[in-house]
Amino acid sequence: MAGKASEFGVVSITRLSEIADWRRLEPEIDAIFFAASATKSFASPAVRKTFHECWLGRFLERFPDATFLARDGQGAVLGYITGALADPAREPLFADIGYFQQLATLTARFPAHLHINLGAAARNLGIGGRLIETFCDHAQKNGARGVHAVTSEASRNRSFYARMGFVCEATILWGGHPLVFLARPL
Ligand SMILES: CC(C)(COP(=O)(O)OP(=O)(O)OC[C@H]1O[C@@H](n2cnc3c(N)ncnc32)[C@H](O)[C@@H]1OP(=O)(O)O)[C@@H](O)C(=O)NCCC(=O)NCCS
Repeated sequence: MAGKASEFGVVSITRLSEIADWRRLEPEIDAIFFAASATKSFASPAVRKTFHECWLGRFLERFPDATFLARDGQGAVLGYITGALADPAREPLFADIGYFQQLATLTARFPAHLHINLGAAARNLGIGGRLIETFCDHAQKNGARGVHAVTSEASRNRSFYARMGFVCEATILWGGHPLVFLARPL
């Protein structure tokens, strides 16, 4: 899927599972993940690895069909969206993310969940919107009747999600930190 020209050339969106040698792109994806993450320091390399596995690694391994990369005209990774379609409150793979149990009524209505990040230079160009629409189209075609994202209540990305049709269905406290459950029917 090609998009309009920008300083990056023609930005394309490609499903991870359609890139035969996608593992060679993992360092670029990981760099975007860690740069965008609010958590910047880790007690040990093992803690850093667990954090990566929790929010990115397992999605790439388990759900390459539901993962899409935005790449510039040279093939460099500008950002990604990944996620899963099954209700995470009822999916053993996500039992380590405790807040899903608090949100189980809502995850039943909006089961697909996503994680999206762009490199700093690729933001504010509409690329995130293309990734969201690609993920939602994939989720809807595969039977999900709703999609959600969880983010910080005070995050700047709230206006982005609102423009993309996501509505705040709940605010919860997690580790003393307010999180919002943003949902869109499909
Ligand atoms: C949120 C994000 C995916 C949106 O993609 P995008 O292509 O930049 O979005 P668009 O160009 O369509 O819209 C710009 C919107 O992105 C969001 N955005 C831009 N820079 C951002 C940043 N540094 N942090 C958080 N959100 C940002 C804002 O909502 C902005 O809207 P605003 O100008 O009204 O404030 C992208 O900006 C990003 O990766 N931000 C940092 C990481 C993040 O917040 N990821 C989502 C975690 S739930």
